[in-house]
Amino acid sequence: MPSEPTAGRGSRRARVRLVAALAAALVVLLPLAWLWAASLVPASYSVMTMGLVDVGGGAALAHGHLPGAAGGRDVTTLVEPDQDSADVEVTLTARRQKVTVPGGPTLTAYTLNGTTPGPTIRAQEGDLVQVTLVNESVPDGTSLHWHGIDVPNAEDGVAGVTQDAVPIGGRHVYRFRAMQVGTYWYHSHQVSHEQVIKGLLGAVVVTPRGGIGGDVDVVGLAHLYAGRRAVQGRSGDVPVEVPAGKTARVRIINTDNGIMPVWVSGATFEVAAVDGTDVNRPTPVEGAKVALAAGGRVDLRVRVPASGAAVRVEMGGAALVLGPAGSAAPATPAMRAPTGVVDLLTYGSPAPLGLDVDHPDRRFTYSIGRRPGFVNGRPGVHWTVNGKMFPGAPMFMVAEGDVAVMHIDNHSGETHPMHLHGHHVVVLARDGVKATGSPWWTDSLEVGNNQTFDVAFVADNPGIWLDHCHNLPHAKEGLTAHLMYEGVTTRFRLGRDTPNTPE
Ligand code: C2O
Ligand code: CU
Repeated sequence: MPSEPTAGRGSRRARVRLVAALAAALVVLLPLAWLWAASLVPASYSVMTMGLVDVGGGAALAHGHLPGAAGGRDVTTLVEPDQDSADVEVTLTARRQKVTVPGGPTLTAYTLNGTTPGPTIRAQEGDLVQVTLVNESVPDGTSLHWHGIDVPNAEDGVAGVTQDAVPIGGRHVYRFRAMQVGTYWYHSHQVSHEQVIKGLLGAVVVTPRGGIGGDVDVVGLAHLYAGRRAVQGRSGDVPVEVPAGKTARVRIINTDNGIMPVWVSGATFEVAAVDGTDVNRPTPVEGAKVALAAGGRVDLRVRVPASGAAVRVEMGGAALVLGPAGSAAPATPAMRAPTGVVDLLTYGSPAPLGLDVDHPDRRFTYSIGRRPGFVNGRPGVHWTVNGKMFPGAPMFMVAEGDVAVMHIDNHSGETHPMHLHGHHVVVLARDGVKATGSPWWTDSLEVGNNQTFDVAFVADNPGIWLDHCHNLPHAKEGLTAHLMYEGVTTRFRLGRDTPNTPE
């Protein structure tokens, strides 16, 4: 057996090497296993226990109410107080069904009353709006969020935060007073990254009591169906009758996950409103586009020339063609967007903001990054807020009446359209440069990579509110924080043992 000792020595050496390798592997794996286990989210949890409490350097909260403290006001009590009968009453029935987008693809989509987008809800300023959502066949359940409308918290439509998702066969009634004139939209906030992409959405238009000055009122809700852009549910050119010499107010709504270029060929235009708020003294724009954030809206005022030549409002792949009946679109549509961009930091004229931004009660930071780690056991390169991955994002705490200033910065390698529920924020500065145009009130603010914004808002709408990226897959991946008023609590729960998955 001449080979035996050699084999013995060899196998001893092999064993030593194996033990060493195992030890080395454990040194790597044990911390990973710990990180993995620490990232697991319970099967049922309250949003109030999520995140790191951040009082924004402000006064300690008056009643010492921290998330989950007893004796608070439940979100379900934060409703429209007026019991009057509604001025605008709508029933929206949600279904999953095959849809053929005229001029576009056929897909399995989500509809409201049989169409996507669902019906446009129109109200006059001050109307009491009542919407009954009926779920006929959306398997995961559904809900409706009123994007940009600062409704009472109970009406906010966030599954697991302000209500339970409405199961098949169920219904839910939303009531709010339409106090904000302007262009808004509604969409599901249950499994929203899937239900919104597949069409569970529609427009909301609130007009002033005195009308819109004789303009032709046009809605242009843009949405990508199976990757193809449609406007008002139709692909390609969508003709809209506007008499020669008349001005149209075109309400453009970006319901997608990315920024959308909007421009006009055949006329100049004015940006009359941003995210529902009128611009103070808009000026004519020529040779520039609007870069419309995901979730954002702009109202463009466009005049059809006296000659009756058609004007195209382009939305990067789809277009509204405005003109008298039978007028043709310009022979060569300007398919390429102009390179200039309307800069809302300087557009229009300043006006008082109506709040003291120099002495805020709270100062918050919303710093967006990205790094490797685990989220709910999934390894990956995940979004961070203030350095922490989901569910460690901040829980921004305010008291009613506070003025809050928030510094947003983004060093995550991608752009993020940030959306705070229940409030509008006003932009104070971008990259440290002060805003000098019309007050830029927004609810959907595109924060580019390596960009910073300083914004302010008034905490005048008690509740628990999401503050998330409206690139909805990003929100699902964890780019979500919350704003919480002291003393407000919620009984709703999220997680896989509950019916609720808001993102
Ligand atoms: Cu448009 Cu949290 O949503
Ligand atoms: Cu994002």
